[in-house]
Formats: sequence, structure tokens, C-alpha cells
Amino acid sequence: MILVTGGAGFIGGNFVLDWLANPVAKGIVNLDKLTYAGNLATLKSLKNDARHIFVQGDIGDYDLVLSLLKKHQILAVVNFAAESHVDRSIHGPGEFIQTNVVGTFNLLEAVRAYWSDLSDSAKKEFRFLHVSTDEVYGSLSPTDPAFSETNPYEPNSPYSASKAASDHLVRAWHHTYGLPVITTNCSNNYGPYHFPEKLIPLVILNALAGKPLPIYGDGQQIRDWLYVKDHCSAIRRVLEAGKLGETYNVGGWNEKPNLDVVHAICSILDSLRPKTDGASYASQITYVKDRPGHDRRYAIDASKLQRELGWKPAETFETGIQKTVQWYLDNQEWIDGVISGSYRDWVKKQYN
Ligand code: NAD
Ligand code: DAU
Repeated sequence: MILVTGGAGFIGGNFVLDWLANPVAKGIVNLDKLTYAGNLATLKSLKNDARHIFVQGDIGDYDLVLSLLKKHQILAVVNFAAESHVDRSIHGPGEFIQTNVVGTFNLLEAVRAYWSDLSDSAKKEFRFLHVSTDEVYGSLSPTDPAFSETNPYEPNSPYSASKAASDHLVRAWHHTYGLPVITTNCSNNYGPYHFPEKLIPLVILNALAGKPLPIYGDGQQIRDWLYVKDHCSAIRRVLEAGKLGETYNVGGWNEKPNLDVVHAICSILDSLRPKTDGASYASQITYVKDRPGHDRRYAIDASKLQRELGWKPAETFETGIQKTVQWYLDNQEWIDGVISGSYRDWVKKQYN
């Protein structure tokens, strides 16, 4: 079996579902703390699948992690678990340090203890894949080339600083102890099961509810969007063939200003679910206060992954965003489950 951490979150949940869609795939032990971002409804279709074992717990719990590794004779760890939302990290960075830094440290230590006791051949086969972000590289000017794996780390938010710290720990555990690690740094994901505090699902749901579509600052900040299932296929490929100790950038070659993304969503909704008053959903766009320290531009150069491992994304932004909007229109039950009291509290705090 493999151990997936954070497998009830957005990307981890998609990864678990895609992995187990292959009937001959190895089983998954899914360790997730079930914070506000973790949602078992995402994994509902696996209820009767014996290859999926869900454990509620913390990656920072050394004893729990070590016992799971031993009990299930884990062959690989894919670490998605993290606090992942930049805005929440600005309101309260403590949890980000706790999970992303201290949690990753404890996880690495439990994995090291387990791995050290494996036979030589099992040691060689074992993998620790750490899922990270492009935000660790900082912000680009309009004319800078896209981030490559050799860009220096220049994190700007409490979130990206905590992820950068975790990446450094992973690197050091390879360099010092020989732990067989690989790190991936991916750009912005979107797709099914995305928690609606992030831009794309927030805009879809606010549009349908007749609420303002909040644009931070001038809306000209650029993100490089990747459909989540393409991120999952990249991780599978890296796990299969990535070189130990290496890092791989993952991205979709889809740089877009935020305002263009919001307009794209509005025009899809205008055709799939026209407003009764005949207006466009774009009429709900509202400019709000900017995010403190807001990074201006991210762009990922994913050519190493394509050149060395033959990976490229299957979706363009146009095909991926169409599928995503349709998914939110078709999955009201999942949406109702996540828009709980605590979600409403967050929206009130962030958008006043
Ligand atoms: P998410 O917030 O949707 O999910 C995180 C999951 O981790 C949740 O299920 C949560 O319950 C769990 N978790 C949190 N703290 C935990 C702990 N201490 N122990 C165990 N589980 C814990 O995040 P996501 O968007 O799915 O991101 C997954 C990973 O990918 C993160 O490491 C993130 O930094 C990285 N990443 C995200 C994006 C993106 O666009 N969302 C892009 C690149 C990289
Ligand atoms: O780049 C990868 C990162 O992408 C991941 O590491 C993070 O985990 C993930 O959350 C995401 O971070 P961003 O801050 O880029 O994503 P978010 O969806 O929060 O915001 C996308 C852009 O949209 C960003 O420039 C801020 C802007 N925005 C966001 C919200 C929620 C708005 O203009 N209005 C909003 O209401």
C-alpha cells in the first residue's frame, strides 16, 4: 500500500479517486486530520472499496505515522497534507507553521525511522513524494521568464514561507540521511471538489447565488492554472520515474490575469445557466481591498517534467474550466455539505 496524507482535501482527494480508478493500483492508507478543508464526502464513492483505508489523524503525530507505516508495510508516501490558503495564513499563521513545518518534520522523522529498518532492496524501492507549490519562488515581473527548478526561493506570504521551510526539510533529509525523496512544485490547481474559499469555486458559487464576485486590487495578478487531474497524473508519473533528490515543476502553461479567469467563468455560466434578468454574471464583479503582500505573477516552466519524464497536461484552460463549472452545477449535494457555519464565518471575516 501507499500512504497518502491530506487525501480528504482538494488535490489529495482527486489523487485518491484517480489512483483507485485503476483496478490494479496498490491500496491507499489515507491519513487526514479533517480540518475545515478536509471532506469525506469527496471520497463517498470509495465507501465499499477495501483498497481505501481512511485514518483521521495528524501528520505531526510521530507514533501514529510510524505505526501506520509498519502495519501496512508502506511502499511510498505522497504528502499533500498542509494548511493551503494564503488568505487564512495572513489572518492566522500559527497553524501553518504547526502543520507545514513542524508536521512535515515529524512526518519525515517517522518515515526515516521506518525506512532505516527496511531491507536494502525495500529501501531502494521506497519513495517520499512531497507536494509543494510554485509560491515558494516568490513573484515575477511581467517580463521575467517562468520559474524553473533552479530559481531561488523567495517566499512572500506566511503560507509560502511555511511551504518553503517544509521543502528545505525534505531536501535536507535526502542530503543528510539519504531518504529517497522527490519534491514537486505546482502552479494553481482548479477542478472538482475545490473548497469554495479559493478564487475559482468562490466565483462560481457567488455568481449562482447572486452575490458579489470579489476581485482583489486591480485583478491583473497573474496565476498559471492547471486542471487538478493533470496535477494528479504528473504526481503519478514522478512517483513512477522521478529521480531521487530532484524537484520537478508542474504547470499548465496557462497564465491568466484573475479578471480574465472571472470573465471566463461568467461567460460559461451565461450560456449554461443564464440569469433570469438577462444580465451577464459579470455585472456582479466587485473590486475589493487587495491581499496584503499580494504576489503579482506566477508562471511555471514545466519543461523538465516534459523532457525527462514525458509528462504534459491533457487539458487546456478552456476545456478544464468548462468541465469545472459544469461539475459545480451538477454537484449541489457536495456544495451544500461544505457551505457550513464555519465556512460562512470565514466569508464574513474575509469580505466583511
Ligand atoms: P486543501 O487545503 O484542500 O487540503 C489539505 C488537506 O490536508 C485537508 O484535507 C486537511 O484536512 C489536511 N490536513 C491539514 N492539516 C493536516 C495535518 N496536520 N495532518 C493531516 N492532514 C492535514 O489543500 P490542497 O489545495 O488540496 O493542497 C494540497 C497540497 O498541494 C498542499 O500541500 C498545497 O500546499 C499543495 N499545492 C496546492 C495547490 C493548489 O492550487 N491548491 C497548488 C500547488 C501545491
Ligand atoms: O500557486 C499555487 C497556490 O495556489 C497554492 O500553493 C495554494 O495552496 C493555493 O491556494 C493557490 O494560492 P492563490 O493565493 O494563488 O489562490 P487563491 O484561489 O486564493 O487566489 C487566486 C488569485 O485570485 C490570487 O491572485 C488572489 C485572487 N483572489 C482570490 C480570492 C479568494 C481574488 O481576487 N479574490 C478572491 O476572493
